[in-house]
Amino acid sequence: MKIELDKVYHGDCIEIMKQLPDECVDLIFADPPFNIGVRYDKWKDNLKYEEYLQWSESWLKEAYRLLKKNGSIYVAIGDEFAAELAIILKRLGLYMRNWIIWYYTFGQHQKKKFTRSHTHILYYTKHKSHFTFNADAIRVPSARQTVYKDRRANPKGRIPDDVWTFPRVCGTFKERVGNHPCQMPTALLERIILASSNPGDIVLDPFGGTGTTAVVAKRLGRHFITIELSEQYYSTIIERLNMEDAKKFIKKDIKGLFDSLYEFSNT
Ligand SMILES: C[S@@+](CC[C@H](N)C(=O)[O-])C[C@H]1O[C@@H](n2cnc3c(N)ncnc32)[C@H](O)[C@@H]1O
Repeated sequence: MKIELDKVYHGDCIEIMKQLPDECVDLIFADPPFNIGVRYDKWKDNLKYEEYLQWSESWLKEAYRLLKKNGSIYVAIGDEFAAELAIILKRLGLYMRNWIIWYYTFGQHQKKKFTRSHTHILYYTKHKSHFTFNADAIRVPSARQTVYKDRRANPKGRIPDDVWTFPRVCGTFKERVGNHPCQMPTALLERIILASSNPGDIVLDPFGGTGTTAVVAKRLGRHFITIELSEQYYSTIIERLNMEDAKKFIKKDIKGLFDSLYEFSNT
């Protein structure tokens, strides 16, 4: 199948990825179901241990095949399968760059254990040394700048640590779209896409959910390919992308209106 850019596919990611050509994407962000019993529309999130491992191996094998030689992959996963997925990624021949911890606030309260407040993000590249990493695009203010007012501080800030803090997108948040149990924050995707891709690159997300990756890729001038199994979530992604277009048009129109008013007031 010829690769179609800026496309949302409705279907099973393994089947769809199998139809795409080798080495066609620059960056993959995957946030698969963690197999912890989350209630999704279509997917049953409670496979037997071996079954989940085999399924993970199958989609990761396809992801590996689709990744360009200098491509990068980030896989979000819970505690239950982080170690297993790290082994699969290593066995496929990928190179680990970071084992990132996304620490989030607003974790779901637990009665008989500590509150879950982090997700693992396994960051790997296909080549050991040739890959995109746009350090300047993701810098944050350093303690040297903000606390110590040290003149030696790099004025551009520093590269973030491998523990990231972004709030989880809770049900009441303005950012929340559709009826999906695990929407990722756009800020997290922004950091990944800015760091590991360039404008015009192709970003693949095999587990679309609410379409966060596609939306952020589009905002940042990257192409996207997103796959989602559930028809309901697929429709949410399409609506969310349409809203993005509408917002862009409105912004452009308002700017045009202000520009005309400004010109008019100066005549
Ligand atoms: C953890 S969610 C992804 C959430 C997404 N990162 C977001 O920000 O909205 C996982 C998604 O994968 C979808 N999914 C499960 N199995 C799939 C498969 N075989 N192919 C495509 N999508 C699948 C589920 O329906 C669910 O929406």
